[in-house]
Amino acid sequence: MTDAQIPLKDRMKSAAIAARENAHAPYSRFKVGAAVLDNQGRIFAGCNMENAAYPLGTCAEAVALGAMIAAGGKTCSHVLIVGGDGDLSPCGGCRQRIAELCTSDCVVSAVSADGAILKEWKMADLLPHAFEFDR
Ligand code: THU
Repeated sequence: MTDAQIPLKDRMKSAAIAARENAHAPYSRFKVGAAVLDNQGRIFAGCNMENAAYPLGTCAEAVALGAMIAAGGKTCSHVLIVGGDGDLSPCGGCRQRIAELCTSDCVVSAVSADGAILKEWKMADLLPHAFEFDR
C-alpha cells in the first residue's frame, strides 16, 4: 500500500505517535504527540518540549501548529493528539492557539498510545467564544 492509500486519519495517528516518541518531557514524564491537517492536505506533527525553566515548556499542539505555519499552511481542519491511555484534551492555551488557525468545522481527536480513538470534539465546542482580535 502506498502512503497515499492510507487513510488520512491513520496517517495523522502514525505521525502523532511517532512525534510523541521524541517528546522532551523529562520533568512531567508525560509525553504528548500531535498532528494537524492543513488546508493543502498536509500533515504536520509535534511533541511537547519541556524546559528546566518550567513555564517555557511548549505543548505538542503548539509545536505542530508552528510547523504548519512555517511551511506555509494557513488553516487546519483536524487536530489529533496522543498522550497516555487516560483522558487527554488540549489545554486552555492550546485551544486558543487552535482556534486562531482552524476552520470552523475543525475536529479534535484524542487517541491512545496504540491508536484507538478515545474522544472526539468539534473545536467550536472545546472553546466557544474564543478571543478574536479585530484586524
Ligand atoms: N501537554 C501537551 O503537550 N498537550 C496537551 O494537550 C496537554 C499537556 C504537555 C505539557 C507538558 O509538557 C505535559 O504535557 C504535562 O502537562
